Amino acid sequence: MTTANPIRRPLIAGNWKMNLDLKASVELVRALTLAVPRGFQGEVMVAPPFTALTVVGEALRDSPIRLGAQDLFWEEKGAFTGEISASQLKDAGCWSVLIGHSERRRIFADTDAWVRRKLEAALKAGLIPVVCVGETLEERESQRTWRVLETQLKGGLEGFAPSALAPLVVAYEPVWAIGTGKTATPAQAQEAHLFIRKQAAALYGPAFASGLRILYGGSVTPENIDSLMAEPDIDGALVGGASLKADSFSRIVGFRSPAAR
Ligand code: PGA
Repeated sequence: MTTANPIRRPLIAGNWKMNLDLKASVELVRALTLAVPRGFQGEVMVAPPFTALTVVGEALRDSPIRLGAQDLFWEEKGAFTGEISASQLKDAGCWSVLIGHSERRRIFADTDAWVRRKLEAALKAGLIPVVCVGETLEERESQRTWRVLETQLKGGLEGFAPSALAPLVVAYEPVWAIGTGKTATPAQAQEAHLFIRKQAAALYGPAFASGLRILYGGSVTPENIDSLMAEPDIDGALVGGASLKADSFSRIVGFRSPAAR
């Protein structure tokens, strides 16, 4: 088995969703800064709720762990009650932002056109965008996985200058694997990641595609991270439930690459 392209630094991102109060958030990142393995060659990020961004950012000062947000709105400022702009996220110390998470798509009706606008705003503000795509169980069972991924990728990513899109990260998160304890097998995930890479090549050429980081998300745990990361097109993980505990998240960050085993 070939290992991942060395130009794609592994990225392990924790998506806290709507969890943890301020005290618990700070305790978690303090524990993480101690527990994240020294010499880790990749990047680590946590995405707390908006209300915890500044305290978590403060607790992460002088730490290699980066701060991310879970969503943004594309307008710069104005009468958009309840929304947060890309520049406000930058101001709060964010390095990255998740876009188009399946919970946003399903519960809050985010569309591919919205993903595209949010992506544009994130890039303009200098945030690393993590665009999430993935099929539902019904779509997988009715053989529509590839069509769904193609539609989400085209709808969200089309029409940028390839150089502007260079910081892009894509997360493949099969909806049926999120929070269900049912992880995609490494082979299923690899197949989807390869498909996503081919779509990226069709949109922006092979050089862009071979440098694109594609994370897997959906019930990632300390038990399955090593086998997922052994796949050549899996460049990291977007972790929900298992990112809420310092011991499980730091074990995921310390995944053993095939070469080290
Ligand atoms: P999970 O969530 O790890 O709890 O399945 C992943 C995600 O939704 O990003």
